[in-house]
Amino acid sequence: MHQITLDAPDDFDGWRHAARTLALAGVAPGEVAWRVGDAAGDLFAADAALPAARIAPDALRVSRRFLDLARSVVMHAAPERFALLYAMLIRLSERPGLIEDRADPALRALERMAQGVRRDIHKMRAFVRFRQLVDDQGERYVAWFEPEHHIVRHNARFFVDRFNTMRWTILTPEITIDWDTRALREGPGATRGDAPDDDPVEAAWKTYYAATFNPARVKIGAMMKEMPRKYWHNMPETALVKGLIAEARQREHAMIEASPDATTARPADAPHNGDPWSLLRAEADACRRCPLWQPATQMVFGEGPRDARLMLVGEQPGDQEDLAGRPFVGPAGQMLDRALAEAGIERAETYVTNAVKHFKFEPRGKRRIHAKPDAGEIEACRWWIDQEIALVQPRLIVALGASAARSLTGRAVTIGRERGREIALASGMAGFITIHPSFLLRIDDRARADAEYAAFVRDLAAARAIAAG
Ligand code: URA
Repeated sequence: MHQITLDAPDDFDGWRHAARTLALAGVAPGEVAWRVGDAAGDLFAADAALPAARIAPDALRVSRRFLDLARSVVMHAAPERFALLYAMLIRLSERPGLIEDRADPALRALERMAQGVRRDIHKMRAFVRFRQLVDDQGERYVAWFEPEHHIVRHNARFFVDRFNTMRWTILTPEITIDWDTRALREGPGATRGDAPDDDPVEAAWKTYYAATFNPARVKIGAMMKEMPRKYWHNMPETALVKGLIAEARQREHAMIEASPDATTARPADAPHNGDPWSLLRAEADACRRCPLWQPATQMVFGEGPRDARLMLVGEQPGDQEDLAGRPFVGPAGQMLDRALAEAGIERAETYVTNAVKHFKFEPRGKRRIHAKPDAGEIEACRWWIDQEIALVQPRLIVALGASAARSLTGRAVTIGRERGREIALASGMAGFITIHPSFLLRIDDRARADAEYAAFVRDLAAARAIAAG
């Protein structure tokens, strides 16, 4: 028996190194006992040097898809996760196509575990609430959170990016993470009692929450599922929930009255009535996060039902969208509409938006020629797409093309390699990548254009099935 001791419960690199070495040495899954740190392991297993390889290293190839799956599953709380992953690695080394087998029970179990981890990552991002303290260096923010899985270290970067200029500490039972505006530190786990109770930040959170509470989405069952009771005591805004639900019908009615068609553009100077959507739109209209607002006619925000299950994200408005103030109304929009209809998707039931919300172009005579947004512009505009996702909370977000994929995943994506299947997005939400419809408009060869169009329709139909599930 080989005993493998990993450094931490989320030690993906340690697992990967050991699993690869064991697999190359031909060690069967039943011959390995996995443990973390000094947790009790198998009494009869020995933590000896890893065995020598029996097959050539390049004989063992694993797909990126399996590695992504393993990266998530390693964070799961189930002690058997390392063994399950190793067993799957051995099976995949014998039958690589197994990764596509949606009916395989072991693969499905791992996918469910990865999904649970992604949900937990998202919950931490959505439900951590800071309390304000003042110490000798000034303001400091402290939060208590109890994750289900080992996701805190993974989420640390998210909080650093989001609250970069604040000094903050997040206490959890397993680990403490602390940011002093320059360096991130880890410390031992804490208890609920170590976190401060009420403080002035609560008032700010409550105001914010009341402003972003979307009455159109009040579904108590779903809300309870997304916000399990164990988080409620951490969240000052839950004190507001009862009253907000009571008001929901009335506010929803007012929202519909005030913006009879949530799917049309709103001029920058139109009044807003205080509902979260109108507030967001008013803020967006005044966006100066990057210089693209200057030459553009207007900000082109997303449109569609605020409880859509499917969100479609394009690159940026084109010439016609810039003038109309609505996404995907020009030639690419017509191509998209046709493919959506063929895939059995009602556009009116989807939320359609763009990664970048101002038209970027180069003037050429009287014409304005589309120019690709750069990584900085995509990053600057990610703020808005994050807000749209938070309000709509779609079941699936489809990235149309590379710019949308970059915005949603936070990295450069090769469409051909990652298209056509569910992936985890940087936000922890479920995503799906396919081509941009304008790509189809640029193909001269008829046969190739038809084949690419058919593949696009297939992708959209697959996305529809996932969103319905
Ligand atoms: N292309 C996009 O990516 N979005 C639009 O809205 C129009 C064209």
